[in-house]
Amino acid sequence: MSGAVLFAVTGMEGEGWADALRALDPARPVRVWPDVGAPEEIAYACAWKPPAGALKGLAGLRAIFSIGAGVDALVGDPALPAEVPLVRAVDPDLSTRMSEYVVLNVLAHHRRLPRALADQKAHRWIQHDQPAAPAVRVGILGLGELGTDAARKLAVMGFQVAGWSRSPREVEGIACFAGAEGLAPFLARTDILVVLLPLTPATRGIVDTALLRGLARDGALGGPVLINAGRGGLQNEADLLAALTDGTQLAASLDVFETEPLPGDSPFWDLPNVLVTPHMAADIDPAAFARHVLGQIRRLEAGAPLQHVVNRAAGY
Ligand SMILES: NC(=O)c1ccc[n+]([C@@H]2O[C@H](COP(=O)([O-])OP(=O)(O)OC[C@H]3O[C@@H](n4cnc5c(N)ncnc54)[C@H](OP(=O)(O)O)[C@@H]3O)[C@@H](O)[C@H]2O)c1
Repeated sequence: MSGAVLFAVTGMEGEGWADALRALDPARPVRVWPDVGAPEEIAYACAWKPPAGALKGLAGLRAIFSIGAGVDALVGDPALPAEVPLVRAVDPDLSTRMSEYVVLNVLAHHRRLPRALADQKAHRWIQHDQPAAPAVRVGILGLGELGTDAARKLAVMGFQVAGWSRSPREVEGIACFAGAEGLAPFLARTDILVVLLPLTPATRGIVDTALLRGLARDGALGGPVLINAGRGGLQNEADLLAALTDGTQLAASLDVFETEPLPGDSPFWDLPNVLVTPHMAADIDPAAFARHVLGQIRRLEAGAPLQHVVNRAAGY
């Protein structure tokens, strides 16, 4: 019998995810916690905020698949079996969705959409200046799976694109910066900063006053713009709020927040230079997730190594 797959989730409905997997591999037993069946049959787990202890005592567990690209909630879970590889979600569908969000928001600020929306509300006809894309420098903080796809798509549109990663990378057409020493020169050439880092002990709170002050101030837009589609914990919200109100920062698009849902009394809701979205940049599609999981299971069962395994020490 093929190794059984267990969905262990909270805050979302497990059956829909399980059905998507069953549709692609009808012969494989797929269970949804707490209906685990015989625990020794479970070879794979798909997890999102798993119920406490749900993955304990599964002696045959060979891999845990995160239902999401970000694994910050999972790596911090002491109940997660430490010896079982943890795989994060990587799929072209997810990358495409994130790139859509990034392109949408880069263009929104590049083409002055927040000002146009405010003008519409006030019945004001003002033609704000419209710099050309090649005059605008976009910087992607986190040049990984999602960041690289977004960088390439922005480069096609004519923007000057750079990326920053932990280890040195080479991406055609993209200026690549890496490590602590690469951060200052990367920021100094960036008008629109797109944050696509994972949330780890090294990146928590990285978007703070010092980082925002390091962004270029001589750009065509008249001030730096921030787009955070990574995680809310990456931004120091007190610093960001100050920067958005004292003129340090021209504008922002924020998809993620320290507290989600964003509380109704948060000042971010009402800032005219901020576009708020409800953590919707790139939802993973159940069919795409099933394709990714089955692809990895087939690799493993054919004796090939798993891909996209999380480095638990680094936290991503
Ligand atoms: N808002 C949403 O709806 C949504 C949806 C999906 C994902 N996300 C977020 O997007 C994040 C990125 O996803 P991904 O698939 O692109 O991840 P990834 O492929 O692991 O890429 C992460 C990138 O960040 C870099 N990085 C990590 N730690 C760093 C550090 N300390 N200093 C400098 N660079 C560092 C990595 O450097 P190396 O290249 O050297 O490893 C890599 O380039 C996820 O972790 C998740 O939090 C959000």
